[in-house]
Amino acid sequence: MRINEAQLKSIIDELTLDKEQLKEVASALRFDMELALQGRESSMPMLCSYIGMPTGQEKGEFLALDFGGTNLRAELVSLKGDCQYEIVKMVAKPLVTEEYNLINGSASAEKVFDFIADMFGELLEGAENKTYYLGHTFSFPSQQTDIYNARLLVWTKEFAIPGVEGEVVNDLLQAAFDRKGLSNIKVVAVINDTVAELLTAGYQYPDTQIGCIYATGSNNCYMERTADVGRPAAIINMESGSFNKLTPSQWDNKLDEASEKPGRQRLEKMVSGRYMGELLSLTVQHLLNLQEKPEFTAIDMSGIMADTTAVASDAAKVISVKVGALEPGEAAYIRDLTEAIAIRSARIVAACFAGILWHVSGSGKIAQQHIAIDGSVYEHMPHIKENVQKALYEILDEEAGAVTPMLLKDGSGLGAAIAAAVASKNI
Ligand code: GLC
Repeated sequence: MRINEAQLKSIIDELTLDKEQLKEVASALRFDMELALQGRESSMPMLCSYIGMPTGQEKGEFLALDFGGTNLRAELVSLKGDCQYEIVKMVAKPLVTEEYNLINGSASAEKVFDFIADMFGELLEGAENKTYYLGHTFSFPSQQTDIYNARLLVWTKEFAIPGVEGEVVNDLLQAAFDRKGLSNIKVVAVINDTVAELLTAGYQYPDTQIGCIYATGSNNCYMERTADVGRPAAIINMESGSFNKLTPSQWDNKLDEASEKPGRQRLEKMVSGRYMGELLSLTVQHLLNLQEKPEFTAIDMSGIMADTTAVASDAAKVISVKVGALEPGEAAYIRDLTEAIAIRSARIVAACFAGILWHVSGSGKIAQQHIAIDGSVYEHMPHIKENVQKALYEILDEEAGAVTPMLLKDGSGLGAAIAAAVASKNI
């Protein structure tokens, strides 16, 4: 066998966070949140979203755009009041295929937004004369001045489309609709996907105060009720993926150096689906002493961990597609490593929740509540859900009993529709 057990153990140790370290992460995150809220230097921008929780009585047909992950989604959503809704129609398209790439430097703002406008053309075929208000879930750090105006601060998740950073994204979108003869679509709101998730949860589970995306990217928002922080009481998009007070391993540093934006999104690069597979690739390359770096994805990691047998023969199949034939015993060791990466991710996500809960509850007790989480990693990756829960207990002791993390899917579309409903009331 090529794997040296001592070397494997030292990599896993480097990727393991114990209870005390978790508590430190949670405290440091709370501290950075509060620095930013006071307008002081912090690793997280804590962006005001200019929207609060919904009443559940929002009504009407709205368009929703979900722009932020690997797929674009255009939806027609009907809000019926009394917390009822229906996704009437949806068109979804990938941003990257074998034929085109709409996220890298070869794309352009115009190309991408024209592509989106065409999707709405397809969605509305035959109904181009009716006026529709659209809510835009744009899942990147954006500085807002109101519910419509949000300028992209910086691309994250390895997106690199030229001509969008610094721009008001809704203006780019509206201009594309106008170019395509779809001026009947009025863009009225923009929100982050975490905010969309929280609005959606608030519609159905009114005790929810935290919205989380645990997918290609990693981020949290929460309802900030104190208005004395120089901003209106509103949902704050934390951009917690940019938190940088974690201790990175040498693998995290390697990954960061080779990324589109070195130095940025350090938490996200340790946690999210876009990067976890890359961490496995780097560590496996080292362990097996491979010339070429293999290309593992988060989906491969799920496949490896889904095999819980001692011989790990199914895991071996997934691994050998990337690294060639394995020697006996190697697959089970690589699965141990995969688990270490996934479990660290879940524990860091839980530490973020704890930091936010501490901030929100101040000197009081943590209130009974749901935490709304959406995303492929939380939904599909083995070991994630139970490790988030377990770490919450480690950090919060019995107070964790007040908190129920829940998977709530498809918040981006519904949240965007709710935001459009709120914004169009003032039109
Ligand atoms: C990245 C983005 C953030 C988004 C998250 C989840 O962290 O910067 O805005 O919420 O991914 O999609």
